[in-house]
Amino acid sequence: MAKTSQALPEVRLQVGDKALPLETVAATEGNDGIALSGLLSQTGLVSLDPGFLNTAACSSEITFIDGDQGILRYRGYPIEQLAQHSTFLEVAWLLLRGELPTQEELGKFEARVDKHMYLSDDFRQIFSVMPRRAHPMATLGAAINMMAGYYPESLDPKDPAAVQLATVLLLAKMPTIVSYIYRRAAGNALLYPKHGQSYVENFARMTFQLPGEKFEVPPAFYRALDTLLILHADHEQNCSTSTVRLVGSAQANIYMSVSAGVGALSGPLHGGANEAVLNMLAYIRDHDLSPKQFMEKVKSKAEGMRLMGFGHRVYKNYDPRAAIVKEQCDAVLDALGVKDELLAIARELEEVALSDDYFISRMLYPNVDFYTGIIYRAMGFPPSMFTPLFALGRLPGWMAQWREMVNDPAAKIGRPRQIYNGHGARDYVPLAQR
Ligand code: ACO
Repeated sequence: MAKTSQALPEVRLQVGDKALPLETVAATEGNDGIALSGLLSQTGLVSLDPGFLNTAACSSEITFIDGDQGILRYRGYPIEQLAQHSTFLEVAWLLLRGELPTQEELGKFEARVDKHMYLSDDFRQIFSVMPRRAHPMATLGAAINMMAGYYPESLDPKDPAAVQLATVLLLAKMPTIVSYIYRRAAGNALLYPKHGQSYVENFARMTFQLPGEKFEVPPAFYRALDTLLILHADHEQNCSTSTVRLVGSAQANIYMSVSAGVGALSGPLHGGANEAVLNMLAYIRDHDLSPKQFMEKVKSKAEGMRLMGFGHRVYKNYDPRAAIVKEQCDAVLDALGVKDELLAIARELEEVALSDDYFISRMLYPNVDFYTGIIYRAMGFPPSMFTPLFALGRLPGWMAQWREMVNDPAAKIGRPRQIYNGHGARDYVPLAQR
């Protein structure tokens, strides 16, 4: 339910002896805004907000988060309902189009995606050219950029048919690309997608099937994979999505914009955190530390260690996605018959953190990455593949946000200002005199 409309308070900025009235912008839910676009021209001042803690860069109808209450909704639908009832491709449609598809629309969309999963033999060369030790996110970014070269008919951001084609091509080819990155690193031959298999079935089979063997896993495997993709599908203006929008604001094509998002997502403070969580759990095990001892290291800040998978810029409460992942974790591990000592360490860390003043006072709770790695590991993915899996899930959100921006008449090229702190003008000193 949207919040009740109330007149926003008048806002004035006192600059010297002048009171400058500032326009306010109402949100249907969440924080209302103060429009600052006239600030520079009317006062000669710019706003300074490192890390955009207070800055809304756009208006958006796609995703709503209430970080204090732990609420996440895509197009108004609670994440809990989508995780329980929907599929990843249905959620992708929802994010991209704004409404849930009819059965016929979904069927056609799935068939169109299915048709385009194939990668030409020529394109597949990139997986042999990239060094085997390259991080999967580097190869993923390169492969997505390469798509801009392969599909020139889908590049024009102003042509809706081209954008729709690029959207389908990216959704369709991304699982194939991610599976090939894994197979190349494992030294296995690349497999082809099969028509008639679902999105996650195709992805899992292309990733894990061994020569001469059937790939068979319990239904809980596919359900968990689909659910994890849904949980990652969008998260409003996070670092990678803002990157996608910023690059796209220069009218760069969708492939270049999404590839830039892959770069942002690779960072350990963002999508790379799921890999960092597993590395942290393994570190605790391998150094024979108790969770309490590790926590002391984190709290002392001496070695710059953080409790990875904890804390969030927006959630100051339990991340609702983390709650769903945690529930799934036991079910998936049971179905796969996996016992994981790292899960026991994770549980104990969470328990210690949730009753520790350091974490309570800073409102640090588990985020989506805290338990996802344990599920991915049980499925057979190595930690270096966790962030590409995040990217696979986030793709519809990146594209929905990019498309919203391209169609927003108020959108402008992103070009922040700065507060200059460097030297004043000075004369060049010839090399011989320095
Ligand atoms: N472990 C220990 N201390 C932490 C943690 C953590 N995970 N996160 C924040 N803190 C502390 C900081 O040291 C700081 O303490 P101080 O007030 O004594 O200086 C305080 O909490 C505030 O932290 P900031 O870094 O200012 O918070 P910010 O909102 O900028 O950062 C972030 C959010 C990057 C997610 C941070 O919590 C973090 O580094 N978490 C670990 C990495 C992680 O899990 N990232 C995934 C995020 S979710 C996602 O991208 C899908």
